[in-house]
Amino acid sequence: MKVFIPRIIPEAGMKLLKEAGLEVTVWTEKRALSKQELIDHCMGKDALLSVSSRLDAAFLNACKHLKVIALHSVGYDNVDVEEATKLKIPVGNTPGVLSAATADTAFLLMLATSRKAFYMHKQIQKGKWGFFEPTANLGIELYGKTLGVYGLGKIGTEMARRCKGAYHMDIIYHNRHHNEEAENELGAVKVSFDELVKNSDVLTVHTALTPKTKGVFDYHIFSRMKPEAIFINTARGAIHNEEDLKRALEEGLIWGAGLDVTNPEPMHADNPLLDMPNVSVLPHIGSATVQTRDAMAVLAAKNIIAGLKGQRLPNIVNPEVYEN
Ligand code: DGY
Repeated sequence: MKVFIPRIIPEAGMKLLKEAGLEVTVWTEKRALSKQELIDHCMGKDALLSVSSRLDAAFLNACKHLKVIALHSVGYDNVDVEEATKLKIPVGNTPGVLSAATADTAFLLMLATSRKAFYMHKQIQKGKWGFFEPTANLGIELYGKTLGVYGLGKIGTEMARRCKGAYHMDIIYHNRHHNEEAENELGAVKVSFDELVKNSDVLTVHTALTPKTKGVFDYHIFSRMKPEAIFINTARGAIHNEEDLKRALEEGLIWGAGLDVTNPEPMHADNPLLDMPNVSVLPHIGSATVQTRDAMAVLAAKNIIAGLKGQRLPNIVNPEVYEN
């Protein structure tokens, strides 16, 4: 059985695939394949272990021979899952293993933004560490503030744990369903979206990108937040409107923003957000630790192996494929 992988993945995953006797082809050039190139590479293969590729209806129909698609990510917004289900292609993802690392990134962005850390670092590089002024370079403190979580799932709960433990923050959240574990453990309180927006000192986004969450944080929403609020997004850049965020920061509607995800990605080097004192931006490194990326590669490999054996994927995005 043959597997195609369009980027180099950690050895932990490669080892499992090879031990399972699979013939693995890896695209090692440091550029993304075009859709047609990806289709061409998938011809004659039984499985695709996909990293960051857009798998739309056209791709899926051209590659409907694939027995399994395993994503090297928890997010699956770049896959037309409905079409994959229609074509009976099981799609797997990597939930759970990246929650702690991604929450660490959200926490890092919150703290860095509250103390303007990235901006200060750049000032030193520009030779601007000079005269000491007691009223300059001031940040804001987080102790006892309210953390609002938009999407309190695994990653959001990890972020809430960190904020509760470090700063005794009150936790409010907006979800479709109650998160009883977080309510019991952290005293998290489920609120309406309006209350979340109005009452959060730090509003952190941990929801999936769907047609419903796309562009939710726009100028109108930012204008209803507290002027001292910090907006954090480590989920998907398309959940906030970047132009509106810029305007909200310029007009002082909110205090700061920490982004691990942007729209588009990569962010252009001349983006004005990068020069703002109260903004911290990272290049989508939420899950980028040795341990987490190893664990993701292992889960993706296990999905491939199960799929090629005709077994149910251990982490399946579209369980409907198993219905008659
Ligand atoms: C994920 O797993 O969805 C991360 O955002 C990496 O893309």
